[in-house]
Amino acid sequence: MTTLAAPHIPVLLAEVLASLKPLEGGVFVDGTFGAGGYTRAILDGGAGRVIAIDRDPTAISAGQEVVAAYDGRLSLVHGRFSELDAISADTAGAPVDGVVLDIGVSSMQLDRAERGFSFRADGPLDMRMGLDGLSAADVVNTFEPRDLARLLWVYGEEKQSNRIARAIAARRETQSFTRTLELASTIESVLGAKRFGEMHPATRSFQALRIFVNGELDELIAALVAAEKALKPGGRLSVVTFHSLEDRIVKRFFADRSRERAQGSRHQPDLAVPPPTFRVEGRQPIDAGEAELGANPRARSAKLRFGIRTDAPARDADRDALGVPRFVVGGTR
Ligand SMILES: C[S@@+](CC[C@H](N)C(=O)[O-])C[C@H]1O[C@@H](n2cnc3c(N)ncnc32)[C@H](O)[C@@H]1O
Repeated sequence: MTTLAAPHIPVLLAEVLASLKPLEGGVFVDGTFGAGGYTRAILDGGAGRVIAIDRDPTAISAGQEVVAAYDGRLSLVHGRFSELDAISADTAGAPVDGVVLDIGVSSMQLDRAERGFSFRADGPLDMRMGLDGLSAADVVNTFEPRDLARLLWVYGEEKQSNRIARAIAARRETQSFTRTLELASTIESVLGAKRFGEMHPATRSFQALRIFVNGELDELIAALVAAEKALKPGGRLSVVTFHSLEDRIVKRFFADRSRERAQGSRHQPDLAVPPPTFRVEGRQPIDAGEAELGANPRARSAKLRFGIRTDAPARDADRDALGVPRFVVGGTR
């Protein structure tokens, strides 16, 4: 059954626009076009041009209407935000005034059962935003139970990962997983059915599979580094995240990039660090206010962090310093 797609309501929109200001005449990259909510608001707010990117081909085809409506001011590119520096250099030919990332899945992806992201509506166990590579079913049907358990633990922070992995392995001995509800009910057989007012028991496992299948954390790190390269001095990078693994990466990235000196010990002077590439202002992270939470429950876990680019040279990211959890198929940690 195909459920009707609800429109995607952009999260923290006013706060994102404020963090990107000034918009007038500027060139902006929207690395996560989705339904184009941010892109439209940036263009309506006076930006000269937006280069919007999405890895999902269905977002690109649906977005052609938006491209047509903005009369040459919007370039919509099918690609990954990890390559936003190359995409924006090819398209705009110069450093940009702002980059925005709204990490995660869109309501269109979640609500279309056939995309396989939902544990509520039955669909093929897919979860690939770009429709390419390993699907969630490939992972669930072929990974060793040990790897599955580790994946659920690392990317879903699922405490019952061993028990769930064993239940998956037991079921697939007789029947492979092909549908989202088969996996959701296997997880419920371990954790119990959803209770009123509590998170669905499959939430963490589905999150873990989605992050792995789409390489989401590596994409995020590469996008932060790419944005640092793409921005002009004074340009702004604004990032909205929806869970702690992503927020931790963004938080540590800005902390690392805005640090003026590393603290030495009592016996050692402060250590020299490379010059800061971003300035971070104000109270961060920014959460949704009461009014938005009432209108859009999806905003509940959203966090916005932003930074202002300095003129210091861009540099590579230290993956470990960003607190990125490690999962390697067949690995021991
Ligand atoms: C939360 S939605 C963005 C919604 C958008 N801000 C709006 O207002 O309509 C996230 C979008 O980012 C896309 N996306 C996720 N990871 C991506 C990546 N690595 N590269 C490019 N697009 C990605 C998804 O396909 C999805 O359409």
